[in-house]
Amino acid sequence: MTPVRSVSASVPAKINLSLGVGPRRDDGYHPLATVYQSVSLHDEVRATETSDGSIEVSVHFEGDQETERGDVPLGPANIAVRAAELLRAEAGNVDTGVHLAIRKSIPVAGGMAGGSADAAAAMVACNELWGLGLARDELEHYAAELGSDVPFCIRGGIAVGAGRGEQVSPVLAQGHYHWVFAIAEEGLSTAEVFAEYDRLNEGRAIAQPEVPADLIAALRAGDATALGRALTNDLSDAALSLRPELATTLELGESCDVLGSLISGSGPTVMFLVRDEEHALDVAVALSSARVCADVVQALGPVPGARLV
Ligand code: C5P
Repeated sequence: MTPVRSVSASVPAKINLSLGVGPRRDDGYHPLATVYQSVSLHDEVRATETSDGSIEVSVHFEGDQETERGDVPLGPANIAVRAAELLRAEAGNVDTGVHLAIRKSIPVAGGMAGGSADAAAAMVACNELWGLGLARDELEHYAAELGSDVPFCIRGGIAVGAGRGEQVSPVLAQGHYHWVFAIAEEGLSTAEVFAEYDRLNEGRAIAQPEVPADLIAALRAGDATALGRALTNDLSDAALSLRPELATTLELGESCDVLGSLISGSGPTVMFLVRDEEHALDVAVALSSARVCADVVQALGPVPGARLV
């Protein structure tokens, strides 16, 4: 009997330091000009060969997440399963299947690319497990078919995202940034937040989005104070419209002298840029004791993208 082979990959959450959104395209997506950063909050995907050719998934939640099993699909609708199916179909000569065991720390439907991250880790793990030998840029190419931010989840670091977010290019940046995340009890659907964005902007002319020059300058200089001032998110009003209580979370964090605050991606996670670890702890304690959110997490960015462990 041949031994069962197993490979693990770790993948970080993403945040958007800026998220510029243009008018809805004919294909339903929105043109984006965004700056991504990977942060040190990781999911892990363990890929184990199955001999019957099946592709399966199981999910284990870490930490304080009280996520219902139903929030993450356990069948073919799971984006990590779709990632494995895509790679196997492209490879052509793989006759074994894979069981993907996901250990989740990234909030589900939290605006931090939790699902996309799992797809990225599944691709990196299956590439190794099945000996496909695909280079990272080839993985990023396939990743774009799975979701707009999957290519960035493979790449990691800090990058500009164009197109619908899937076209990533590196940004010259220095420094490390300390973040505190207020994680909501219940997630928000990305599609619903974009639909709310359309509703709020109905009848208005929306310009093509651009990456703010002051944000790029702040990253280039490694200036956390300037970065805090430059954080921006065009989906913020839409997320606040669907979840008005996020305004309380934002106000509370802002009263703690943070360098910047923003809704992460399509929300509902709220992110605060802080000076250092000590400041992070102060903000975390203030958020936890006010009970404005389900969980508070501290992280550092940037970190590398999906990697074998
Ligand atoms: O690409 P992804 O599958 O992650 O996108 C989820 C949903 O978010 C899309 O179906 C679409 O409704 C919305 N979206 C969008 N414009 C983008 C990215 C996502 O409208 N650039």
